[in-house]
Amino acid sequence: MKYGFFDDKAKEYVITQPDTPLPWINYLGKDGFFSLISNTCGGYSFYRDAKLRRITRFRYNNVPADDGGRCFYICDGDTVWSPAYLPARTPLDGYRCRHGLGYSVFEGKKNGVAAALTVMVPSCVDMEVQKLTLKNETDVEKTLTVYAAEEWCLWNAVDDSTNFQRNWNIGEVEVENGTIYHKTEYRERRNHYAFYSVNCPVQGFDTDRDTFLGQFRGWREPIAVEKRTSFGSIAAGWAPIAAFRIEITLAAGEQKSILFRLGYAENPTDKKFSSPGVINKEKAKEMLAAFSTEAQFDAAMAELAAYWEGLLSRFSVKSSEEKLDRMVNVWNQYQCMVTFNMSRSASYYESGTGRGMGFRDSCQDLLGFVHLIPEKARERIIDIASIQFADGSTYHQYQPLTKRGNADIGSGFNDDPLWLVACTCAYIRETGDFTILDHPTPFNNEEGTEVPLLEHLRRSVRFNTEHKGPHGLPLIGRADWNDCLNLNCFSMTPGESFQTCSNFESGKAESVFIAGMYVKYAGEYADLLDRIGLADEAKEVREEVLKTEKAVLDYGWDGEWFRRAYDAFERPIGSKENAEGKIFIEPQGMCVMAGIGGKEYGKKALASTEKYLGDEFGIELLAPCYSEYHDYLGEISSYPPGYKENGSVFCHNNPWITLAYCEVGDGNGAFDLYKRNAPAYIEDKSEVHRTEPYCYSQTIAGRAAKTYGEAKNAWLTGTAAWSFVAVSQGILGIRPDYDGLRVTPCLPDKMDGCHITRLFRGTRYDIVVKRGNDKGLTVNGAPIQGDLIPLTDTATCEVVVTI
Ligand code: GLC
Ligand code: GLC
Repeated sequence: MKYGFFDDKAKEYVITQPDTPLPWINYLGKDGFFSLISNTCGGYSFYRDAKLRRITRFRYNNVPADDGGRCFYICDGDTVWSPAYLPARTPLDGYRCRHGLGYSVFEGKKNGVAAALTVMVPSCVDMEVQKLTLKNETDVEKTLTVYAAEEWCLWNAVDDSTNFQRNWNIGEVEVENGTIYHKTEYRERRNHYAFYSVNCPVQGFDTDRDTFLGQFRGWREPIAVEKRTSFGSIAAGWAPIAAFRIEITLAAGEQKSILFRLGYAENPTDKKFSSPGVINKEKAKEMLAAFSTEAQFDAAMAELAAYWEGLLSRFSVKSSEEKLDRMVNVWNQYQCMVTFNMSRSASYYESGTGRGMGFRDSCQDLLGFVHLIPEKARERIIDIASIQFADGSTYHQYQPLTKRGNADIGSGFNDDPLWLVACTCAYIRETGDFTILDHPTPFNNEEGTEVPLLEHLRRSVRFNTEHKGPHGLPLIGRADWNDCLNLNCFSMTPGESFQTCSNFESGKAESVFIAGMYVKYAGEYADLLDRIGLADEAKEVREEVLKTEKAVLDYGWDGEWFRRAYDAFERPIGSKENAEGKIFIEPQGMCVMAGIGGKEYGKKALASTEKYLGDEFGIELLAPCYSEYHDYLGEISSYPPGYKENGSVFCHNNPWITLAYCEVGDGNGAFDLYKRNAPAYIEDKSEVHRTEPYCYSQTIAGRAAKTYGEAKNAWLTGTAAWSFVAVSQGILGIRPDYDGLRVTPCLPDKMDGCHITRLFRGTRYDIVVKRGNDKGLTVNGAPIQGDLIPLTDTATCEVVVTI
């Protein structure tokens, strides 16, 4: 069943009923001001950091779900309705939510009034702008009372939801001509304030939530709205809000628009106040002036469209597969941008108060993002490398506002360092910018410790070279990519975090997965060294790679697939010797991508993967699922069978298998797997899958689960980047390389060809892939040996690949 449809031309997903199985959301904003917005207009905004600079309040785990957010009420006679259905919950005569690229539109209709609410975050202004257009479609005049309300968050989202003995005393606002300023803590150490403003005269306002809502009421039925009044309340502590009341008269057929602006501004310490205790509002006024007319709003929408048009034109495909095209050309790249911006911080499932920017997460996100805005990728690589320690190990995450690493969600994940190598090499292959390697980059953000970025890569590789276990495989540390394979943890205390606890540092538990990574990425590092003239070091690294490869062949191969790990007692995990968890997906993907054991092992491993782990929605993480908790395995065995790391389809590593299929030249296998969980391909199973059909989710419950096929944790997942890599570089086979673009399509038999455009190092490549007997590559009509299109300085380049 579907709850909407893709409008490919408008690049929108159009939701046609408000009661989607879960809130289906969109992300607005690209630099400082970000908003999450659901298909019923719920969600929240923050400035840079969802934990430290939360602008509006959101209650996870609220009932009813997704209540609050942007609250619009239209009072028409006795009826009160909301254009996006919530919060009023009055059945509408018409409803549509159109989620587009960086904006969302809600079209609601009731009793002859049509509302169109467009919400967007313009570029370069720290503001969310909401344009509400109301049209009277009847033939009589109507007078409507419109309310718009937002609830402020007291900045630090953790404090805001815990420290009530303080919070209920500190809330402060100022009100001035149609603008409500939120200034909690501005009197002391904060230099920032927020505001909500409307561009037309208002008939009333409220800033104290409980006054506006009334006792025992929620956002569905504020007393102010019920009484068609406002109380002019000024918040003194408790919960400050911004609510406006606007009377609007529409002649028959007439339409009017109102602009609401939710903004964030900072002042220098010496310019905080215009008079004692009063905010200096210059900044806000400038921002509001830039968005006070419809024409300004429309211009910002046009700019946003042009921005996305430009970005998405960097890679696009036209094929016989409509669903493939819409994933590649729009939605997968869009999600890559979102994961780049958010890492794993703020979604409807990541509270924004837990994780900030993950080290391994952000490194992987870059793999699918680097072609979009390489300059931002460069900056991110430096930020990430700056939280590395001098011995090559790293913090696992950092706060986006401070860019400082912290160990709140653990450290000692031994795969982390190698991901830095992966994304830096990808960046240089994309851009040819070797100067990044010289960039002075500190350790642990300590001034004075700066070394060239290359030294960080060196220490990343060295970390795994120097931390090996009894079988010559890399030590796993707290865990590797699989956060839940906690082989040195041994926790028996309820509630203890598996990400931070360790009771038994065995110094023995090893990861075959990291070994695969090492072969792949230390190998890439060696290639990089050769290119910058460090042949001796390259040779040494290659020797280590060979040793590791041998260790995998000797101790990591189980006969029909790659083993997963060795535990603290040197027992294999992911082996036929195990009763449960006999086979895991990760080493099959990584070791085959790394080419360990060649095509022969690759094909065997893939056949076993499909046989034991394949389901309708993809490849499950492991089988059989763990039926009991084992302290020597940790969190992985804490999940009920079929969920999360214990045997769901963990979408993130499915593209590794797709790439592994490409590695062994199996285009049918690759595409078949790709289709099983690419959102557009499973849109018509939305009642089972439940999350948005236009973005990937982290997991899909496996066969052992009670809710097989149900996806969870939409949006912020490495699936986005890896799926884009798998489809663009694997299946379509367009691979940026140091000396040019490689073209190695691996299409399924049923596809006759396709047409790809790719902007690479300033040249627009127009690539036609077709089937034929005359196999090979022509560049501007001339045949070329091999699969590499050499670099050129022409603006365009015509390529034909016959496969
Ligand atoms: C989550 C984490 C990611 C980890 C994965 C597997 O998606 O963000 O870092 O690799 O889980 O445990
Ligand atoms: C849990 C999750 C895992 C996630 C980790 C991050 O272990 O299962 O997916 O990466 O938490 O804290």
